[in-house]
Amino acid sequence: MEKQARFGKMTSWSFGQERLRYHSMKNPLLFISITLFVALLIYYQKEVGDSDDHSNGPPRPIAAWVLEASRLTKGTISSTVGNWPITLHAQPQTIKAPVDALYFGGGLTGGSVLSQKNKPTPAPKEAISLLSWVRLDAGARKGGIIGRIEDNRYGAGGTYLGYDETHWIFGLTPGGPGIGEGRLQILRSAKPMEKGKWSLVVATYDGKEMRLFVNGELAAESRAALGPINWYRTDRWSIGQFSDENEKVPMIGALREVEIYDKALTQETIRTRFISQLARVQTESVGSPLHFVIAPYLQFPDTHSFRVCMETSQPVTATIEYGPEAPFNLKTTSKGLETFHEIPIGGLQPGSMGYYRVICTGPAGEHLETTILPWQTAPIDSVPFSFAIIGDTQGNAPATGKVANIMKELRPHFALHLGDVVNEGHDKRQWVEELFRPSQELFGQVPLFPTMGNHEKNHPNYYKYFSLPSPEYRYSYTWGDAAFFVLDSNKPMARGTEQYNWLDDALGKSQARWKFCYHHHPVYSSDNNDFGDTFAGKRSLYGDPKLRPLAPLYEKHKVDMVFCGHVHLYERTHPIKNGKLDETGGVVYVTSGGGGGSLENFTPTPEWFKAANRVDYHTTFVNIRNNTLELRAFDKEGILFDQYLKTK
Ligand SMILES: [Fe+2]
Ligand SMILES: [Fe+2]
Repeated sequence: MEKQARFGKMTSWSFGQERLRYHSMKNPLLFISITLFVALLIYYQKEVGDSDDHSNGPPRPIAAWVLEASRLTKGTISSTVGNWPITLHAQPQTIKAPVDALYFGGGLTGGSVLSQKNKPTPAPKEAISLLSWVRLDAGARKGGIIGRIEDNRYGAGGTYLGYDETHWIFGLTPGGPGIGEGRLQILRSAKPMEKGKWSLVVATYDGKEMRLFVNGELAAESRAALGPINWYRTDRWSIGQFSDENEKVPMIGALREVEIYDKALTQETIRTRFISQLARVQTESVGSPLHFVIAPYLQFPDTHSFRVCMETSQPVTATIEYGPEAPFNLKTTSKGLETFHEIPIGGLQPGSMGYYRVICTGPAGEHLETTILPWQTAPIDSVPFSFAIIGDTQGNAPATGKVANIMKELRPHFALHLGDVVNEGHDKRQWVEELFRPSQELFGQVPLFPTMGNHEKNHPNYYKYFSLPSPEYRYSYTWGDAAFFVLDSNKPMARGTEQYNWLDDALGKSQARWKFCYHHHPVYSSDNNDFGDTFAGKRSLYGDPKLRPLAPLYEKHKVDMVFCGHVHLYERTHPIKNGKLDETGGVVYVTSGGGGGSLENFTPTPEWFKAANRVDYHTTFVNIRNNTLELRAFDKEGILFDQYLKTK
């Protein structure tokens, strides 16, 4: 468009030359004056008009919004430039000092700019800038401030300005418009973001260089992208969330201005803008309005009920609206104002499914709600189902987020956690930032059945955040024709102990076709130094000697598989009975401790029982259909690395 316009101007000037030649014969001075004027005009158009220079005023965005309460009408915010109203998913909070802004509380309350009929949303090809005044109160696995983006394994397209757990992010997909050929390039700020403080964050791309500016300073630059922007499969801009076809990550923070440009803003322009609004970073920000500290998550579904837990930053009354489909005609409201809620939903049919939504209300009318999420109850019948396993999610939110996202994409009916859910059980920050936040999309739609690791140290946080049948450290549950028995391997488990007797009794009574046990410490393991120190020449015991005496019990009750964590890697054994390979009557032991904790390694020489091993962050996925069990293990990128089939 730009080239055509320039060509058009040149054409009319050439046409004018014919007439100028006629006049110039009569008045040479007039000819010189007009020629000079026209030359100056062309120079101005070419050199000044296209550049981002203040002699021509600051560049104009192609779309812009000011997010403040006074501009909010019926869940919509009109744009200040272009006709691009934002439809918000829910009523946001507002924040006043140092500037009026909208606050997104982590329940997917951001918004979308919808395509209009015959008018796709802005998608500049050659260059772009994304600008925002933003105050983030929390990081995210994949956070978005503004973006029109698809980031999928089968291809990527578009661009976004966002953040991860700690840093600002600018993502952009360069290249042609071919299907699936886009590769998202990620630029990450050198310094971490300052949570709770206002920042002017700007991403620019001029077809050659990606740049990220924070408060007028260059925060990162890259030449990894080249050429026009690839908008493959994207059609709408999202604000206050990362949103594409398969990922929805809400923001916890405030937004004020959000702008899109079809050119790369210069550092001078950005710095001038920052200085003109400097008061925002110099004034103390007010505290955070109501938000989810821990987004709603599902707990302990049985055949007739499930539970929803959540934690908010202020005491609220929580209502769960639910039913087989939206709009919902059923609801349950908490009894009082609390920051932590555990709300049971009962009276459901076995094997049923539906949706729920959480609405929180504070004493002064504060409002926070979630998007629509799914629930289901355990079936009684022998219907096919699947579950995904994670373990040892310790101190590594990015890896936990990747594994949790792979688990979510596998669409299990429920998930198992093999313990060491955090590194320090007493440290609430770890529960919030290293377990729940990176896993929030998974836990909101897939119920988690955990077991206690050694790092929780039996802390009350475990009993608070997980809603399990008493005494909680051990419990059992069923799903279709499978039964699961969960134990605390930190507590005594030898013959004659309370847990041993309970397990012996529970396994003996179970009529389930499939029996699974899990606890944190491994019965069989080829780890190099947990049960010996093999690289230092000290023989390994190849498993926890306190747990090994359970093997005869598992064999007696024909347990199919035992899942363990503690060792931060993946290992599957051959079927074992009486300490020997037994293809028909043996128990298979799977260590699946790759949820984020520092990875460990294997003995230099394998023991006979090792069937498969892998050092990587991963999930184990089990599919049950009648008399067939199919186990697969996937790494954090979703690549299959182990597969096992059992039929009985
Ligand atoms: Fe661990
Ligand atoms: Fe452990």
